This record gives sequence, structure tokens and C-alpha cells, in this order.
Amino acid sequence: MVYQATASAPVNIACIKYWGKRDTKLILPTNSSLSVTLSQDHLRSTTTSRADPSFSKDRLWLNGKEEEIVAPGRLATCIAELKKLRKELVEDKDASAPKLSTFPVHIASFNNFPTAAGLASSASGFAALVSSLAALYALPCSPSTLSLIARQGSGSACRSLFGGYVAWEQGVLDDGSDSLAVEVAPRSHWPEMHALICVVSDDKKGTSSTSGMQRTVQTSELLQHRIKHVVPKRMKEIEAAIKAKDFDAFAKVTMADSNQFHAVALDTEPPIFYMNDVSRSIIALIVEYNRVAIEKTGKRKAAYTYDAGPNAVIYTLQENVKEIVELIVKYFPQKDGFKDPFQLFAGGSVG
Ligand code: ADP
Ligand code: DP6
Repeated sequence: MVYQATASAPVNIACIKYWGKRDTKLILPTNSSLSVTLSQDHLRSTTTSRADPSFSKDRLWLNGKEEEIVAPGRLATCIAELKKLRKELVEDKDASAPKLSTFPVHIASFNNFPTAAGLASSASGFAALVSSLAALYALPCSPSTLSLIARQGSGSACRSLFGGYVAWEQGVLDDGSDSLAVEVAPRSHWPEMHALICVVSDDKKGTSSTSGMQRTVQTSELLQHRIKHVVPKRMKEIEAAIKAKDFDAFAKVTMADSNQFHAVALDTEPPIFYMNDVSRSIIALIVEYNRVAIEKTGKRKAAYTYDAGPNAVIYTLQENVKEIVELIVKYFPQKDGFKDPFQLFAGGSVG
């Protein structure tokens, strides 16, 4: 008997950014966040897990290369948590269920886009890992319950357990049991929403999200203001904008939050710069595009957002996608190959 399961998960791109942990082991954030999950057609991780009593230990290969699983690291924690759930929820309840929790697992995962390049591979990667083990173990768990485990792999991964519009509620409990992802609206609620990903660089980032955000927690006064006075209000505003399908309000909050996230990175000691000149030129282009749109209709038509890297994600409605792609290609001519300063990588609907 072969015990094996495969699952895929897409990346998500935050509109209200997670930046800062109150517990680095359990990965509990200092603020709630909200993201849009992209379609699986574009950026995804696909993970196959196999349990076998003849395996000598748990092993994982990422894009064909073995990654070490060291306890109590993130990979080891996620695998251990899922084995625990298998035992409690399946094997302890049904004596005839195979004791998969006692078998070592071999896990193989592939990303169909650059890993560790600021395109959220850790989010899709840990979400796919958790989904594939949950399928292997036949766990009767909701996506929110699985998000509690994906969160311990990489915070932003908890949001990739759902498609569409997803909030990660920061929670207040010390054990993290209320720090989970919830669906704000499914993709079908607002199918006109699209994301354009502009790959400015696929180099490995200079400062990882994990270390960067801890430095910000330790040194930035602006982060404390953001946590207390800005994010709670913005979470309400963006949820209302999504529910009302109000793109103008969605765009305003999304761009403001991207700006403030990069401001707290700059407010860190020593300062962290994630955007480069091309990133800033794309901001200028979108600002001008929106200025013209506001003049004509009173409303914004596009929103930029940047994670911990120089790559732009532009949210817009389907009717504007062609116009924006043409504008970007005009001002940032594409060249062949991935290493070029700018390449329009993927245009995708949200998933
Ligand atoms: P990114 O910007 O792509 O999220 P990070 O440096 O934050 O970059 O995270 C990259 C790390 O996430 C990888 O080194 C690996 O540990 C983990 N990761 C990425 N993809 C996968 C995957 N498919 N399965 C398991 N872990 C993954
Ligand atoms: C800027 O989830 O990669 O993309 O929890 O340490 O793995 P760890 O960090 P990670 O940080 C993501 C930061 C961000 C904002 C976001 O996705 O909300």
C-alpha cells in the first residue's frame, strides 16, 4: 500500500501588510493583515508527501534539492503538528486506521516561479506542504485550522489556505490558537479583480522578511504607531471596500499600507530598503495613471503594492488590464531573459 498525496497552493499578496512578530517561535504577528490569493494558474507550489515505514527519517526536497529538516525549525514543527493531528483526530478514534503518524515522510515540492526572490514562495510553499500532509493524513480539518499550522511555517502562508480575499486575525492568546486565517470573500464575489506582477528582480533579497521584521520590532517607533493606530482602522476599511466592491477605496488603502510598510522598514535601525529605482518609477506611473482617472471619473483605477523586495504587484479591474500592461511595456521595455531589470511576469486573476 502506498500512502501518498499531492496538493498545490498559490501565493497571496498582502494589501494590509504583516510586519512584526510578538512571538517568533509560534509566529504570532503584531498586527492583523489581509491579502488577495492569486490564481493557481500563475504562481504556485506543488507538494507531494509520502509516508512509508521503511523510510529512515523525514526528508524534503525543494525544486529537486534536499533541504535539511532540523528540529525545532519551521519545517520540523509543521510536520510534527500534522502528525499529532493525525494521531489525535484519526488514529486514536479509529483503531483500524493505519498508524501513519509513526511513519517517516518524504516530501517533494516544486515552485513554478523563482524561490526566495520576494515573490512569496514561502507562503505558497508552506500552504502546499500543510495541504499535502493534511490530505495524506485524511485530516477532518477546516482551512482555518490548517492555517494555524501553516502560520508556524511562515506567517503569510496561513493566508494561502483560502482563495479570494483573506484576513489573518492576529489573535490575543499566548498559545496562538486564535491567530488564524479567515475568508473575507471568495474570489467569485469580485471576479473582475486582477493582479499584475512586475518582476523587477528575481535576485535573493538582501534582508529576509523574518530578520527584517524583527529588527523593525526592536528599533522602529513608527511600527508601534502603525500597530496601534493605523492597521485596525485599515483592516475595517479594506474589508468594507471588498464587501462593497469599491475599487477606489480598496486601491487607496492598499497603496497607503504598502507605503507605510516601506516607511517602517526605513525607520528600522539600520534602515532597510526593499524598493529600487524601477520600483519607485512604477509607483510614479500608477500615481499619474490614477491622477488622470480621478480627473475623468473621480476614481482610482489601479493600486500598487510591494512586499519585502523590489517587485511590483498592481491590482486593477479586468477592464483596465490591457491598458496598464501597454503602459508598463511602453515605459519599461521588456528584454529577453529573467535577469533583465524588468519583466512583466504574470497577469492573473485572483484565486
Ligand atoms: P519568498 O520571498 O519567496 O517568500 P523567503 O526567503 O521569505 O522568500 O522564503 C523562501 C523559503 O521558503 C525557502 O528557502 C524555503 O525554506 C521555503 N519554501 C519556499 N518554497 C517552498 C516549498 N515549495 N516548500 C517548502 N518550503 C518552501
Ligand atoms: C512583506 O511571512 O515571509 O510579505 O513569518 O518570518 O516567514 P515569516 O515572514 P513572511 O513575511 C511576509 C511579509 C510581507 C507582508 C505580508 O505578506 O503580509
